[in-house]
Amino acid sequence: MDGFRREIVGSWAQDKHKRLRHYIDISSAARRKFEGNSSYIELYCGPGRSRIKDQPTLIEGSAVAAGLEGLRRAPFGHLHIGDLDSINTDACRARLAQQQITNVSTYAGRAEETVATIVRGLSKSALHLAFLDPYSIEALPFTVIRRLATVPRMDVLIHVSLMDLQRNVKQLMRSGALSHFAPGWEAHIDTRLRNDQLVLAVFSHWRMLLRELGLKVSDNVERVTGRKNQPLYWLVLAGFHPLANQFWDEVSNTEPQARLPLG
Ligand SMILES: C[S@@+](CC[C@H](N)C(=O)[O-])C[C@H]1O[C@@H](n2cnc3c(N)ncnc32)[C@H](O)[C@@H]1O
Repeated sequence: MDGFRREIVGSWAQDKHKRLRHYIDISSAARRKFEGNSSYIELYCGPGRSRIKDQPTLIEGSAVAAGLEGLRRAPFGHLHIGDLDSINTDACRARLAQQQITNVSTYAGRAEETVATIVRGLSKSALHLAFLDPYSIEALPFTVIRRLATVPRMDVLIHVSLMDLQRNVKQLMRSGALSHFAPGWEAHIDTRLRNDQLVLAVFSHWRMLLRELGLKVSDNVERVTGRKNQPLYWLVLAGFHPLANQFWDEVSNTEPQARLPLG
C-alpha cells in the first residue's frame, strides 16, 4: 500500500496492457533511432495502479506499464500524462517516480483541453506514441484525435468501448453525443439499421474519419472479449509511421474470431 488511489478493473485490463507493452517493445528499435527525442502520451491515465476485481492481484496502470517497458530497451524521452481527475494524475506521477521514471509532465482536465496544451509543447521532429483509453464513447471526442494528428510522427493506439457503443448507440445518436465521437455520422448511417449493424456502421465511419486525417488505420482491429465472451472493446492503431501497422499486425491477435467484418 502506498496510500494512493487504486482502480478496480476487470482481468481483461491485463490483456490491454500486454498489447500496449508489446507494441512499445517492438517499436523500440525505431524509437532508439530518435535518441531520446520521443514521447509517450496518455490523456486518460487513471491512478497508475489497479486491483483486479474479486482478486488480490495488483497491476501497474497503463502509463506505468508503458514507462517500464520503455526503460527496458528504448526509454521515452518524456511522458505526458493527463486525466480528468488530478488525484489520478498525482497518483500516476508518484507511481512512475517509484520506478525512477521522472521525466513526466501531468495535466489535469478533460482530454479535449489537455491535448491542446500537450500538443503545443511537443517536438515536431520527435517520435510520439499516444494511448487513448477512456471508459466511454462520450469521453473520446474526435477533436482529441484530430489535434494529435497535427503532430508529425504520431502513432495513436485507441481503446474504443464496444460495450458502451452496443448498449448506448441509439441513445448516443438521439442525445447528439455521437456527433462528438464520429462527426458527420448522420449523412452516412441509416438509423433504421439493427443495433449491431449500427455499431459496425458507426465504427466504420469513425475509421474513415481517421483516414481522412491522413492516418494509416490498421485493418487488424483487436476485438477484445470478456470471460463470458461479452464484447468489451476494440483496440485500433492509427499512425503516420510506415512501420506502425506492420508492428501492430505482430501484436494483434489474428485468430479468425477476433477479426471484424470491416467494411
Ligand atoms: C479506463 S480509465 C484509464 C485506465 C488506464 N489507462 C490504465 O489502463 O491504467 C479512464 C480514465 O479516464 C478518466 N476520464 C474520464 N473522462 C475523461 C475526460 N473527458 N478527459 C480525461 N480523462 C477522463 C477517468 O478519470 C479515468 O481515470
